[in-house]
Amino acid sequence: MPTIQDTPTASPVGRDTPRVDGPRKVSGLAQYTSDFHFPGTLYAVPVEATIASGRVVKLDTAAAEKMPGVRAIFHRENIGKIFRSTAGPGFAGICEERRPPFEDNVVRYYGQYIALAVADTFEAAKAAADAVRATYAKDKPNVETHLEADSDPDAVITTFGVRPRLDSQRGNADAAFASAPVKLDQTYVTPTETHNPLELHATTAIWDGEMLTLYESSQGVVNLRSVLAQMFGLPNENVRVISRFVGSGFGSKLWPWTHCPLAAAAAQKLGKPVKLVLSRKMMFQSVGHRPRTQQRVRLGATPDGKLVSLQHDYIYQRSMLDAHHEDCGEATPFQYSVPNLRVTFGRAKRNIGATADMRGPGRVTGLYATESAMNELADQLKIDPVRLRVINEPKIDESLGVPFSSRHLLECFELGAEKFGWSKRTPDVGSMKRDGLTLGWGMAGCSWVAARFVSEASVQLRDDGTARVASATQDIGTGMYTVLAQLASQKTGLPLDKIEVALGDTSLPEGPLSGGSMATESVVPAVFAAADSAIASLLTVAATTPGSPFENRPPKDLIFEGGKVWVKADGAAQGVPFGDLLRRANLRLVSGSGRSESTFGNPKPKFSTHSFGCHFVEVTWQPEIARLRVSRVVSVMDAGRIINPLAGRNQIEGSVVMGIGMALFEHTSYDPQNGAPINSNLADYVMTVNADTPPIEVHFLDYPDKEINEVGARGIGEIGLAGFAAAITAAVHHATGVRVRELPVKIENLLA
Ligand code: MOS
Repeated sequence: MPTIQDTPTASPVGRDTPRVDGPRKVSGLAQYTSDFHFPGTLYAVPVEATIASGRVVKLDTAAAEKMPGVRAIFHRENIGKIFRSTAGPGFAGICEERRPPFEDNVVRYYGQYIALAVADTFEAAKAAADAVRATYAKDKPNVETHLEADSDPDAVITTFGVRPRLDSQRGNADAAFASAPVKLDQTYVTPTETHNPLELHATTAIWDGEMLTLYESSQGVVNLRSVLAQMFGLPNENVRVISRFVGSGFGSKLWPWTHCPLAAAAAQKLGKPVKLVLSRKMMFQSVGHRPRTQQRVRLGATPDGKLVSLQHDYIYQRSMLDAHHEDCGEATPFQYSVPNLRVTFGRAKRNIGATADMRGPGRVTGLYATESAMNELADQLKIDPVRLRVINEPKIDESLGVPFSSRHLLECFELGAEKFGWSKRTPDVGSMKRDGLTLGWGMAGCSWVAARFVSEASVQLRDDGTARVASATQDIGTGMYTVLAQLASQKTGLPLDKIEVALGDTSLPEGPLSGGSMATESVVPAVFAAADSAIASLLTVAATTPGSPFENRPPKDLIFEGGKVWVKADGAAQGVPFGDLLRRANLRLVSGSGRSESTFGNPKPKFSTHSFGCHFVEVTWQPEIARLRVSRVVSVMDAGRIINPLAGRNQIEGSVVMGIGMALFEHTSYDPQNGAPINSNLADYVMTVNADTPPIEVHFLDYPDKEINEVGARGIGEIGLAGFAAAITAAVHHATGVRVRELPVKIENLLA
């Protein structure tokens, strides 16, 4: 099987490429949102509700207003008009928390903003916010963790604006389950998890007349512009959003949150730039989280391991205000071959902040449940878990009735098993030992959707021999600056240091969201088309400029390669650098633009397009001291052509680190009394640290997927987290004999 390691490449695409923005980041030159300073900037600090359900009956701001340095205390009565936004075509107008801040006096979750203090300094604003006194009419908040589906769920409007396949059915799942010789019926629970990007959410809002500029830490500047324009009743062109560097988001920065219009409204009222940076505590309250899920999985199988029925019925928690759909059943209908299937969902409203996409939304929660069930079924049948998956590998996507564009999951298993040494596994619980430790080995498969969003880009070729590539997409730490440079380099033949990349700014051609792991695959055709168009202009210039060595040649006889123009018949030796041609024509630059259309949400696709992969995990267990460690991980991904394997491995490693957290540490708990997230800080919200992180071996298969784009690249930002927790819980069972079906695994679970 071809893997990336076997196919070193001379072309920029596919080559290990250190981040082009690395030096700027490590030297501190990279400016994140809160690093921008403007003369006269005021600082805003929101006042957080300290109840999770009820109403604000009185707000006493008198003391706060009199404090030194305080410019204003804004609230419902004086903030001015903030409209709702509606989702438009494509990805316009989307936000999770539909209610604009301060719209009414109802409090629906702890930490909801009820006022905003603005002052000359952050300290003065914080002191004033603390001095605002709210009187509430309090109701008992509902933060119940056991989930029963609401009887009358609101119409499902999903964040992505297109109705994904929500329920699925084929055959007769109930009857096939009832008559199946082997049955498994288990419920799996995943907790609320909070995104914790290093960089806090932040906004700086600046008005110039009717023009609003927002510096915002965002995974989607184009959508953010649309939402803010609607909220302030402005045309899109009056709003500019800038997000040059993002200290990650994990989904929490996909859609705008309420602090952003608050900063903008305050800046408008006060006629000064206003900066608002959330506290870490606020990050747990008001900018989304992965919702708690409860998923019942029923599998029916023959004694030799063939699935005959699969039912996946899940319920997830949501807030009173959000539009999020946690699509746990997304992969269920096609991951395995099964004639009888049913996927259903329910939702349970709670007094919590809006739920949101968090790295691998839907599949990370969903595949934890279904992959866990597969592992349990394998144990029940005494079939190796890899073998069980091989037995049930589908030939086509059985839910859509179409082939996969490229699916090499069995090769992932094969390579992963070989690299991990899986054949040495002895299946009995506690049967494997090393250096006095009990070993547990587990595995799981995974998948992630591949598709393109609408994408536009521009490419300039300039008289100094450099190029510029631009698109209003973002680099959220994933390496988009580098990807755009590599793509432009591929087309122009210029080295990376001769290519300037501009992104994170709505004044550029509209680029895709940094979401759904789809940004990279989306920009490829747009950048290539833009480069082709710039090159076509260059060839016309070469053929029409008086005195040009190519004057009066038909442009079709000319070649552009390696940064030079030459005549096909003459060969590269006669090439002229494009900068020379532009200077001779007295042109600073030629430019081209490119656009590619969306393939996301296509209801009748010719192919089912996904990435696939698997994880093999080793844990060590020392019952004497109750110590569980993850000691080894091998992950294999089939994600098409990897544009930058260096950054790609980094994505999978990051997912594995996050997956260890999901399996063993992370959960956000709400206080049943006041509805507050209890562990709303980085000391109490436990995440994987370096000491918890074992050696991680990442391998990529190398099957370019030309259905997605001409390079064959699919996304890799999220797939590494999918399935991972199921591999860990299987390893934990193999070591300890304890089957944990509610994440995270706690040591006390293992001491029974
Ligand atoms: Mo990802 S949850 O689409 O940022």
